Amino acid sequence: MTNRTFTMIKPDATQNGNTGGILEMINAAGFRIVAMKMTHLSETKAGEFYAVHKERPFFGELVTFMSRGAITAVILEKENAVEDFRKLIGATNPAQAEEGTIRKKYATSIGENAVHGSDSDENAAIEGDFFFSKLEQF
Ligand code: CMP
Repeated sequence: MTNRTFTMIKPDATQNGNTGGILEMINAAGFRIVAMKMTHLSETKAGEFYAVHKERPFFGELVTFMSRGAITAVILEKENAVEDFRKLIGATNPAQAEEGTIRKKYATSIGENAVHGSDSDENAAIEGDFFFSKLEQF
């Protein structure tokens, strides 16, 4: 599955009305949407999704933020998807994100950074399966 990645449009971007703008940038960069849903993560579910970060000092803040409002979960397809998508979203900290990236345009801080992007093919598959059954992945 090296041609797929997973993204979430986070509660800050949803609340700021940026879902459409972000999807437009994703489309313009040549990614194909193969699964998508708008949903809400409970604190428990947000903690499960980010379990890898549970020892980090920002974990509590991250869980509170990610369960604050609706998110849009999306699986994307493109050659070299994981790497190309991380380039498109830019650095985790928007202060370091390059011009033309999603986080440069829409993120407000290192915590409230508008979008998530998988960091490996393995995690892309795990994260996509967290939200979508196989029947929902096209
Ligand atoms: P994401 O790419 O979704 O993966 C982990 C998330 O943790 C990250 O985006 C940020 O939202 C959040 N995060 C990472 N570093 C920090 C930090 N120093 N302070 C607060 N939140 C952070």
